[in-house]
Amino acid sequence: MKERYDYLVDLLNEANYNYYVLDNPTITDQEYDKYLRELITIEVEHPSIIRSDSPSLRVGGEVIDEFQKIKHALPMLSLSNVFNENELMEFDHRIQKEGIAPEYVCELKIDGLSVSLHYEKGELVTAATRGDGVVGEDITHNAKTIKSIPLKLKKKIDIEVRGEIFMAKKTLEKLNEERKKKNQPLLQNTRNAAAGSIRQLDSKIAAKRNLDCFIYHLPNPSDYGLKTHQEALDFMRNLGFKVNENNRLVGNIKEVIEFIDEKTIQRDDLYYDIDGIVIKVNRLDQQRSLGFTAKYPKWATAYKFPAQEVLTKLQDIIFTVGRTGRITPNAVLDPVIVMGSTISRATLHNEDYVLEKDIKIGDIVSIRKAGDVIPEVVEVKKERRTGIEMPFQMITECPICGSVLQKKEGQVDHYCMNKNCKARLSEAIIHFVSRNAMNIDGLGEKIIEDFYNMGYIATVVDIYYLEDHRKDLTLLEGYGDKSIDNLVDAIERSKENSLERLIFGLGIPHVGSKTAKLLARRYQTLERLMEASFEELVEIGDIGETIAKSLIDYFSDSKNQAIIQELKKAGVNTSYLGKMIVEHETFKDKTFVLTGTLSKLSREEAKVKIEDLGGKTSSSVSKKTSVVIAGENPGSKYEKALKLDIPIWNEEEFIEVLENAEK
Ligand code: IVH
Repeated sequence: MKERYDYLVDLLNEANYNYYVLDNPTITDQEYDKYLRELITIEVEHPSIIRSDSPSLRVGGEVIDEFQKIKHALPMLSLSNVFNENELMEFDHRIQKEGIAPEYVCELKIDGLSVSLHYEKGELVTAATRGDGVVGEDITHNAKTIKSIPLKLKKKIDIEVRGEIFMAKKTLEKLNEERKKKNQPLLQNTRNAAAGSIRQLDSKIAAKRNLDCFIYHLPNPSDYGLKTHQEALDFMRNLGFKVNENNRLVGNIKEVIEFIDEKTIQRDDLYYDIDGIVIKVNRLDQQRSLGFTAKYPKWATAYKFPAQEVLTKLQDIIFTVGRTGRITPNAVLDPVIVMGSTISRATLHNEDYVLEKDIKIGDIVSIRKAGDVIPEVVEVKKERRTGIEMPFQMITECPICGSVLQKKEGQVDHYCMNKNCKARLSEAIIHFVSRNAMNIDGLGEKIIEDFYNMGYIATVVDIYYLEDHRKDLTLLEGYGDKSIDNLVDAIERSKENSLERLIFGLGIPHVGSKTAKLLARRYQTLERLMEASFEELVEIGDIGETIAKSLIDYFSDSKNQAIIQELKKAGVNTSYLGKMIVEHETFKDKTFVLTGTLSKLSREEAKVKIEDLGGKTSSSVSKKTSVVIAGENPGSKYEKALKLDIPIWNEEEFIEVLENAEK
């Protein structure tokens, strides 16, 4: 019986693979069902022999109470975007400038949601969503129902792969037909439908949604001795993963453009939705030397297909106030569907934009939405004017607090200067709790607005005293004991965040998450950062005068000082919890410039190591540069170092010094 069982598992898995991965069916549906029934009968009678890769798991059954969190071994990054050929050429130039003439792999950008799959000894153990990139949600129960995700690989290895879960266009059509019959709201596009399906607690529902999955990324290729992305794709394909057949290795950016042109035409014929083309540097050593920004790899980008434009009527223009006090005019539109989502608002950016395009209330306008970008009004159809359109009038007072708006010289934006303006405060709170800042799960925009209006939260400090209002909160619609418990937990946890999250969360103008990290590492505590002088700040590589001035302005404002004091009193950590800087005489107070390709570590890693030892890094060579570290194919920085007689280390020398210092 065990023999028959093993035979059936292997036969059905093979059939699954041929059908769902290779798109090459080897047995009929009837045969498949017959064998599956036989297998299930055996499993019901002998549950102890059920294998972890049994195809019976594909129909679902496991139901979970809530999604567990999974921390990604390496962050799941997103991609930078380019929207036209020029921007794509710039991407290529930036790489060439580093002395790299890359081959690229072009891939289709699948419009779904990314997933990380972990296998141990060849068996699927966990599947996680991207989440905030650092921590995702465990969706293993649902991933197992996706037939193109192998439960068992062709080799018994430990591996993590990443890819995109998506729903085929036809599947969405059928699903919506059924929903229509049942009078349920229709799903707007395949991406939302896939995301909604994967977020089901009951895997039987997910199983019915017939999701699919392409694999496109191997986070640790060197563990398997691979040298290029193309090799990684082949390697994953040979393990049994579904890797897209359209992927193509090309020799230069011109061939990338040919690929884009070709796929733009073929796009509609594909059985799944794509929203662009992903371009990746093929050689992994080159990828390493290009490294990452805080959000994206520098060795890849996404070319987004030109946005679809749709006509609608502009009913009104309203104004919103941002966290920094900036006023944005927004178009209120007759709702239209653009690229699968219903749009009823679009940004008009600022007064100049509206005047330049001569936008009037009542105009027929064309709307564009590109990817995740906020929809915008592209142009006015002047030939459709009837004469009753109303001219645009910029406001002079803040729509929320009524204070007089200011426009600084040379700038296009108007600002509300009232730091106590209600709109600015609630935007500041939204920013404070956001993912890259204090990351307080459960405090969404809507809740903040509710709490703000109820008077429970007026500043970020009040977040830490929300529990005092527990009784009142439970009376609000939609806030049960459990959700309040979760919220209070998340707030408690945020007190232990490392300093960079707090710095970013404070919303200091011009201070993004990368700058916040840099400052946290350098100053270690908020108190020390607050004492830093303008001169000291601009000395740090990557901190320009604008950022330095902004920091000084922010910390010298007594209101901000009071908020920081209150946050500390509430128990919020103000120290850096990452790796400490241990100064070493070879690095301390010296400025290093990196050029060319390093083979053993990426530029970003090299920078971190230098900074961990008390050194500074800069991107350009000057008299102040202490050492230039030159990898393979160094650029003009190398020549400049020679000219200025600055010491130059090659990679081996650098690594030797590093190793000695790290001892
Ligand atoms: S590579 C570090 N390749 O697009 C590399 N992403 O806008 C990470 N996506 O988060 C991603 N198709 O969810 C890559 N062929 C492809 C892709 C792809 C779709 C998604 C992915 C990513 C998002 C970025």
